[in-house]
Amino acid sequence: MKNLKKLLAVLMTGLMLIFVAGCGGTDSSSSSGSGSSGKAASNGKRVGVAMPTQSSQRWIQDGANMKEKLEALGYTVDLQYAEDDVQAQVSQIENMITNGANCLVVASIDSSALVNVLDQAKQHNIPVVAYDRLLMDTDSVSYYATFDNKGVGTLIGKYVEEKLGLKEGKGPYNVEFFAGSPDDNNAHFLNDGVFEVLKPYIDKGQLVVPSGQTDFDKICTLRWSQETAQKRMEDLISGYYSQGKQLDAVISPFDGISYGIAAALEGAGYQVGKNWPIITGQDAELMATKNILSGKQTMTVFKDTRILADKCVTMVQAVLEGKTPELNDTTSYDNHKLVVPSYLCTPVAVYKDNVQKELIDSGYYKKADVGL
Ligand code: GAL
Repeated sequence: MKNLKKLLAVLMTGLMLIFVAGCGGTDSSSSSGSGSSGKAASNGKRVGVAMPTQSSQRWIQDGANMKEKLEALGYTVDLQYAEDDVQAQVSQIENMITNGANCLVVASIDSSALVNVLDQAKQHNIPVVAYDRLLMDTDSVSYYATFDNKGVGTLIGKYVEEKLGLKEGKGPYNVEFFAGSPDDNNAHFLNDGVFEVLKPYIDKGQLVVPSGQTDFDKICTLRWSQETAQKRMEDLISGYYSQGKQLDAVISPFDGISYGIAAALEGAGYQVGKNWPIITGQDAELMATKNILSGKQTMTVFKDTRILADKCVTMVQAVLEGKTPELNDTTSYDNHKLVVPSYLCTPVAVYKDNVQKELIDSGYYKKADVGL
């Protein structure tokens, strides 16, 4: 009798297990193969995504990618752009907190201006992930998804080194330098990468900077503004190149800045194929890609926003589920309060000859978009 009871108990447990497993098998998250990272795990949690501006194509893509990928996992997304207005970004983040955000993703305008509002997030136990730009002077940041920002500068420097034959001792060439926004940590990392490669050639006299402007403070461009860059390039042309002095290269850290530089050159009568200098860039924007094909820009650095968004989404999932995301750099990004655990994606130099391979074959743009 005792044995019969035992046998029945074992059979019942077995049946229950089969039943539970059966339910699991029809569950949408596990049948889709995404397991605990699928819709069920997101439980309708809210993610606030604060982006800096819609004035450049890349941030529009970044925002759209983040929204799409987070929504596909079942999160509710509050995507906001602050149009480079620092105070507006603070207010947007405050609203996200008030509206019950469970996690914040922030691409800052001024990386040190969000300390107070991020403190508020911390008080509400809302984790924060820094997107592309590091959040400085705060301990309210869990992870950082970005590209190898110094590596971007290295690619720019190496491209110019190669294109001008500097390793072979060629020169002297006249060059001018532009840097990004002083309140964006990326601008400093990138500039370090550029100068690490090119400064030795300035020291040797193979690169000459007629304006003498090489200090970051002199060459930086607040908010990475196209207009500011155009104005500075106009001043450089009239101040140092008016006597017909050849300008061989302009080092630009961002496609938007490159457009401003090109506009100033056009305005001063420079012509592509005649006396047009090498112009670098960053972001592989559509217009920059077209300009590369037409010769108006020489190179850019492609930072695939799809990959960045993927990495950032895994960080959001991890912080919300109490797990650790994949990281590949835990030493470089010291924000003065902590070294922020990061994932650095790999940037790629793009020029006329590899537009097809890097931007078309990878599905980033369609042939027709770039006019190929
Ligand atoms: C930087 C970023 C660049 C560029 C720039 C201007 O933070 O690293 O790729 O987008 O902002 O938007």
